[in-house]
Amino acid sequence: MPQQVQGVVAPGRNEPVRVETILIPDPGPGEAVVRIQACGVCHTDLHYKQGGINDDFPFLLGHEAAGVVESVGAGVTDVAPGDFVVLNWRAVCGQCRACLRGRPWYCFDTHNAKQRMTLAGTSGAGGTELSPALGIGAFAEKTLVAAGQCTKVDPAVAPEIAGLLGCGVMAGIGAAINTGGVGRGDSVAVIGCGGVGDAAIVGSRLAGAARIIAVDIDDRKLDTARRMGATHTVNSRTDDPVEAIRELTGGFGADVVIEAVGRPETYEQAFYARDLAGTVVLVGVPTPEMRLELPLLDVFGRGGALKSSWYGDCLPSRDFPMLIDLHQQGRIDLGAFVTETIGLGDVEKAFARMREGDVLRSVVVL
Ligand code: APR
Ligand code: ZN
Ligand code: ZN
Repeated sequence: MPQQVQGVVAPGRNEPVRVETILIPDPGPGEAVVRIQACGVCHTDLHYKQGGINDDFPFLLGHEAAGVVESVGAGVTDVAPGDFVVLNWRAVCGQCRACLRGRPWYCFDTHNAKQRMTLAGTSGAGGTELSPALGIGAFAEKTLVAAGQCTKVDPAVAPEIAGLLGCGVMAGIGAAINTGGVGRGDSVAVIGCGGVGDAAIVGSRLAGAARIIAVDIDDRKLDTARRMGATHTVNSRTDDPVEAIRELTGGFGADVVIEAVGRPETYEQAFYARDLAGTVVLVGVPTPEMRLELPLLDVFGRGGALKSSWYGDCLPSRDFPMLIDLHQQGRIDLGAFVTETIGLGDVEKAFARMREGDVLRSVVVL
């Protein structure tokens, strides 16, 4: 029997989001219904609402979530009702070329749940089909996902902490430890210190970086970056970040530069602020019209690696439990990313605060 629950729906391009009654079907083969306990508000949810991702309105927003498995469909063996799980937006297939070559974060065939959740019609029967954000749709009391999107973690951790790993925090930490390969004694520069950049700082510190240089145009962000573990800060409105990073690294440039803004000018800074054999990691998300022009001779003349990091090149089953373990031990503080907890009805307000730049994460708690 389909269940009626409340969920946050983006009805159309740039229209305010609304709490609506939605219908969740019973889980089919390979699927699970999860009772959501917490879900962070991410930029990508705002992009969905603005029509920046695609036009498959209405969307069921939310994708950075933790909760408890309520029921599973046929053939599901990895998770069972009662399991505390973090949801991920890339359930890997385990069989494609990328998976078989040990790089499942490039999996070609992500198995997300079919879009079978609907808006409740006036009769209570199913109406319009909803598109769940990133195949999740977790600003809702319950959601339907592929069982492979559920990663079991230690239930002792607070849901609003665990859920963070579902997107932004994992992307940032993973950009440092998985993609950037930051190592003991490295110098790291992080350009853009929002939630993703701050998580890259946390990851760099975890990996043993000796110097972590935070770059932003906003002094408030630089203060937070310092609390997250940055050893030096540069305000790139007042100081040339490339010069400053070179100066702070003995004239060489940083071993790893993480670009967490997603703009051509900050990418260019990252490109020139790295050591000749350094690595640039692009984890900020650019928009389709953005272009970058670089002298090809400079690309030739500098070695190292230019990489991008999608979801922190994470492997949820490996990385989520590990990071929660480190948090429980007090070796990283994921709680520092939660600025406020809010209700389902407050998502629109959280978007406004996000635009003003005064939150790292607003987390919906249910
Ligand atoms: N130079 C340096 N920092 C900048 C610049 C710039 N030119 N422009 C913006 N910033 C800073 C902002 O001040 C802010 O601190 O970049 C940071 C971006 O942070 P958020 O807006 O909080 O974004 P975040 O959630 O961290 O995501 C970073 O990844 O997921 C994507 O869409 C997201 O592209 C964005 C990026
Ligand atoms: Zn695969
Ligand atoms: Zn996200």
